[in-house]
Amino acid sequence: MTDKKIYITPDNENKGRYSRQELVLITKFKAIACMILFAVAIVVCLKVARNLNVQGEATAKSPEAQPEPVYKSTQVTKESTASVTTAKPSNEKEDEAAIASKKKEAEKKQEKTKKHKTEVIDGITYVDGILVANKTYSLPADYDPGLDPKAEAAFKKMAKAAEKDGLYLFICSGYRSYYTQTELYNSYVWSYGVKATDRFSARPGHSEHQSGLAMDINLAADAFDGTPEAKWLAKHCVEYGFIIRYKKDKESVTGFKYEPWHIRYLGVETAKKVEASGLALEEYLGIDSVYKED
Ligand code: DAL
Ligand code: ZN
Repeated sequence: MTDKKIYITPDNENKGRYSRQELVLITKFKAIACMILFAVAIVVCLKVARNLNVQGEATAKSPEAQPEPVYKSTQVTKESTASVTTAKPSNEKEDEAAIASKKKEAEKKQEKTKKHKTEVIDGITYVDGILVANKTYSLPADYDPGLDPKAEAAFKKMAKAAEKDGLYLFICSGYRSYYTQTELYNSYVWSYGVKATDRFSARPGHSEHQSGLAMDINLAADAFDGTPEAKWLAKHCVEYGFIIRYKKDKESVTGFKYEPWHIRYLGVETAKKVEASGLALEEYLGIDSVYKED
């Protein structure tokens, strides 16, 4: 039998006996196990921390969780503003640009309107003394002036001048009462529907024809465009105090599509000013032309 020294482990005093070699091995094993456990604990902690971080980022990216964009920052220095701007996502920058441009537009509009004097007399709107009838501004149903004598005289003078140039101009539709306009508009709606009709025929009370200051020359149809009479009218009507009221590419401003046959009497001085500005009457007067219901 080999001589084997017996040691008693402190933690297992009464249960077993080990050789020195075995005890060394056990101690080593315990130390290694502790180290492994420690390492596992560190790895687990790191993973948990990383997970929390990822979750935080995901929450920040979720649109629902986005705070309302802040467009005004009062107490910031120039430097901090710059760094905030650089850090903003592009869609937020676009929003800011759109808001700024809308604000600018509204200011411009306000500025324009401020420059003009608007009066309402007996339900009729005058801007800088000019009677306005369009989609925004209507005439009372009982406003029934007939064809304006000055406008009629100016037309006759113009027609004579055209005749000298070998062209025949005549009024195919002049003054129209509220009730005539109602019948006309309704008949168009019957045939074409409201949306299409609203592009070329005014609703009752909104037609310039009811003012007695507007007239359609020769042919109120697209076929009139490009004819020698249409060209002559466009070139010379201003000399007699008229403007082509619904110009090409101005539908978004006037509310009506191009009508080369529809002239509006303003008097020579004003007509020349409006013509020289290159603007539609609405732009010239700083007003709009939109139905309330639209
Ligand atoms: N055609 C024009 C817009 C009117 O009906 O008065
Ligand atoms: Zn007309």
